[in-house]
Amino acid sequence: LRFIWSDSFQTGHNLIDKQHKELFNRANIFFETTENIPDEEQYIETLNFLVSYVKEHFKTEEDLMKECNYPLLAGHKKEHEELVKKLVTTYKELIKGGFNESIIESTNALVQEWYVSHINMHDKKMAEFIKNN
Ligand SMILES: [Fe+2]
Ligand SMILES: [Fe+2]
Repeated sequence: LRFIWSDSFQTGHNLIDKQHKELFNRANIFFETTENIPDEEQYIETLNFLVSYVKEHFKTEEDLMKECNYPLLAGHKKEHEELVKKLVTTYKELIKGGFNESIIESTNALVQEWYVSHINMHDKKMAEFIKNN
């Protein structure tokens, strides 16, 4: 399981694109870990590595949206909050119940959801607005 960056994910905003690439990178590091020797500590560490960057990235976008009075800020922010909430739930599950296949599945689904729909539906629109305002 690997997330491969392609130009179709490009929003045209340099910083945002750079951060999206790093998010793919960190998601891949997590999935790579799950393919190797089971090591609970490593799973927790790499998932935390991913989640902390997701939070940082969302903060960057929200700051950019505020700066230009983006009219769709509230809805976009809500999407972020929901994604973080789901990721944190997965993270807590991992800490409490240990690693299992459903953790990979739900993390995969989350990154896919974020990757396919969030970038395409929300981030591109936001980047376009920033460029013109
Ligand atoms: Fe976003
Ligand atoms: Fe984003």
